[in-house]
Amino acid sequence: MHCFNLNPTVAVAAVALLTALPTVQAGMYTKSSPVVQVDAKNYDRLIAKSNYTSVVEFYAPWCGHCKNLKPAYEKAAKNLDGLAKVAAVNCDEDENKQLCSMMGVQGFPTLKIVRPGKKRGSKPVVEDYQGERSAKAIVNAVVDKINNHVRKVADKDIDTFLSTNNETAKAILFTDKGTTSALLRSLAIDFLDVITFAQVRDKESKTTELFGIESYPTLVLLPGGDKEALLYQGEMKKPAMLKFLSQVGEPNPDPAPAKSKGDKKSEKKDKKDKKDKAPKASSETTSTTTTESSEATEVPPSAESKPKVIEVAPPIAAIASAQALINECLHPKAHICVLAFAPVARGETAEKALTSLSEIAFKHAQAERHLFPFYEVHTDNEAIAPVFKGLELTGEVELVAVNAKRGWWRHYEGDFSSTSVESWIDAIRMNEGPKNKLPEAIIGEVIQESKTATEKPVETVEVKVEEDVMIEVDTEPETTSWQGAEPTPEATDASPKHEEL
Ligand SMILES: *[C@@H]1O[C@H](CO)[C@@H](O)[C@H](O)[C@H]1NC(C)=O
Ligand SMILES: *[C@@H]1O[C@H](CO)[C@@H](O)[C@H](O)[C@H]1NC(C)=O
Repeated sequence: MHCFNLNPTVAVAAVALLTALPTVQAGMYTKSSPVVQVDAKNYDRLIAKSNYTSVVEFYAPWCGHCKNLKPAYEKAAKNLDGLAKVAAVNCDEDENKQLCSMMGVQGFPTLKIVRPGKKRGSKPVVEDYQGERSAKAIVNAVVDKINNHVRKVADKDIDTFLSTNNETAKAILFTDKGTTSALLRSLAIDFLDVITFAQVRDKESKTTELFGIESYPTLVLLPGGDKEALLYQGEMKKPAMLKFLSQVGEPNPDPAPAKSKGDKKSEKKDKKDKKDKAPKASSETTSTTTTESSEATEVPPSAESKPKVIEVAPPIAAIASAQALINECLHPKAHICVLAFAPVARGETAEKALTSLSEIAFKHAQAERHLFPFYEVHTDNEAIAPVFKGLELTGEVELVAVNAKRGWWRHYEGDFSSTSVESWIDAIRMNEGPKNKLPEAIIGEVIQESKTATEKPVETVEVKVEEDVMIEVDTEPETTSWQGAEPTPEATDASPKHEEL
């Protein structure tokens, strides 16, 4: 099945072919391929010293079996995006020949799975992949070899787990599965030494009750110290989860995370940070990152002790479904939420608005001031459309504040700059500025949906807007965070309406 590079006829044919063609050095994988092209210069950094598991194909462009493997290998690379690295080394290149022979490559293609050794700084473990040359078989073999830094925590260990290194952030996935998913393992690798990862089975009832977990899977983030737990509401997809977890610390700078569209922004931020913090950043670039970072070579060595704190405002959370929007902001007892409506493919204005919001949120968080939550809501989501239309919003980007409990909403008008948005937010905090009555359709729909969950009929619609007293807003438990199994005060409040009047 191999193309042997010792085969003289093939070698001769290859030389003839290579000299005949002008594109001598062209590898088999293009720049846009999901397969990362690795060479002797960057092999160490990208593969050998990575915290990730990689599969590396050693190939020659003239080899027929290599060409046959290409579609399956690219498919495997797509499937493993964000979970493991899928790389290829062109052994026909002079500069790579030594690497290929050092790796014991005797024929093409040779696939090897490389993963970090158990001890930090130890040599990577390299194994030949001898399995079937299909995407599925390759993916399964690689997933199997992704190092697992996720601890399984049972009821009997939970107290110890929570109190050990209690200043360190912890992420707990509550799951009904006994195995640890590749996705969770990959996130644990991204946040190695930044966030401690655990998984708790649904049958560990003491722990699930302690956290008030009702559905699986559910991800909870404990920022550390006595900060309140944060509940992840989004999809179980890597880019969104990475974003959520980045609230408490930056992921490690390994270039393997999912190359999803939504991630571009944070990747750029990462790069900016790296400029400040990674003095040894080599001038080589990889095909998973753009070339900009190559300028970032000269940095004072003192920056090496990189602090694990985020200096860049983390992006605000996105609300992914209509149900999540109801749960967070539009159920009859929901307090103030600021919603940034924008399409998924953010334009300039959306970027500006979202950056302003994330900066304001970050500023308040740093000052440990309570602030109502901000959410990004995607207008392309059809389920969200009734809300958008119900408020008669038409702009590409719209900022609104809603208070479902008190039945009002406010509309932001301005240039979305940080100062302008901030003064709007401050006005809401101070209960200044114009309010509109939240259309009954919106609340009405919401009531329909949430009626099953509430005992009594709720008549929030009747609220008189003018008498709305908001002065106490700052002291109210308005927060994105979520605390153990404790119901929030307003959730236990049987007659929310009377409180208003
Ligand atoms: C965290 O640890 C410190 C000292 O190790 C301890 O005083 C404190 O009570 C712990 N907090 C919690 C919530 O366990
Ligand atoms: C690998 O993980 C360690 C923490 O154990 C981290 O300091 C380092 O930056 C990571 N390496 C890369 C390349 O991300």
